[in-house]
Amino acid sequence: LTLTEALDALPKVELHCHVEGTMRPATVVELATRAGLPLPTTDVTELYTYNSLDEFLTVFWLVQSTLTTRDDWARLGYESVLDAAAHGRVYAELFFTPARHLAAGSALGDIVAGLSEGLAAAETETGSVAMLIADVDRAFGPSAGVAMVEDLVRLRRAGAPGVERVLGVGMDSTERGVDPASFADAYRLAARHGLRRTGHQGENSPPTAIATLVDVLGAERVDHGLSLVDDPELMTRFAAERIPLTVCPNSNIRIANAFPALADHPYPAMRAGGLLATLNTDDPALTDLDLGYEYASVATAFDYSFDDMVAIALDGVTASWLPDDDARALR
Ligand code: ADE
Ligand code: ZN
Repeated sequence: LTLTEALDALPKVELHCHVEGTMRPATVVELATRAGLPLPTTDVTELYTYNSLDEFLTVFWLVQSTLTTRDDWARLGYESVLDAAAHGRVYAELFFTPARHLAAGSALGDIVAGLSEGLAAAETETGSVAMLIADVDRAFGPSAGVAMVEDLVRLRRAGAPGVERVLGVGMDSTERGVDPASFADAYRLAARHGLRRTGHQGENSPPTAIATLVDVLGAERVDHGLSLVDDPELMTRFAAERIPLTVCPNSNIRIANAFPALADHPYPAMRAGGLLATLNTDDPALTDLDLGYEYASVATAFDYSFDDMVAIALDGVTASWLPDDDARALR
């Protein structure tokens, strides 16, 4: 067994993966055709091209817009887990970002029910479990964020189908020019109703924005958190408090163009600084990644041993929102 094969087979947890970003290219084309949605090209190698986070988000939004029916979401959830299970993922907390669909008239209840149905079917087939995190889309503004959380709270109160799979809320999309504090109402509402909280920050925003996410919005985890390395004092605090980061090194190269090569990524500095820095793919289908490759490429780039990588995988369990008994069983 090579290191790459061993890391592909290693049971892994993933905490930063957008379910829409896992959509198979062939499924995008099929759903777009059925929805009568013109694609700029049906050659997916061309479809998935971008040179910055903002350009990437335009592609991501196009992929999202192909999802129109409850069955589309079910299919996405099903294929997503099948593909990840093939690379050793045993547990995930997957983002979905419904702002675009809610604005177009979809019901959150249909999206949650569809996704959940697909995830459950794939779980039965593979044993790989996926829970959900409902992300606020910053591009739609703070009041759309509050409305989504209100919707979610209503579904929970009604015991709507599949809603038990939604563990909490997050926030993604563009960071530039957005003050995370403007989303405080949505996060306060989520906290009051017992929802867990995370958020994308520090992918291309400064460390002050990461501090705001945690201290003003009460986020329990930070997605990316890359710019933390620019503030050694804040980094020391995050290490001491064991605030989890869901880091996506290959995505930072391929999507954000943050570094010329993987070897230039500060992931080893984050680990060496004592941060609970987990390893994740972000949008694997759109970036031609999988979790096995994420582990193998990081091990190779930074000369990590198999045991180092097992420690990273175990940190994923620690950073997860699994109940203690389930987390213990996974270890
Ligand atoms: N949505 C999907 N992928 C994202 C990323 N890397 N950053 C922000 N929003 C996203
Ligand atoms: Zn992300």
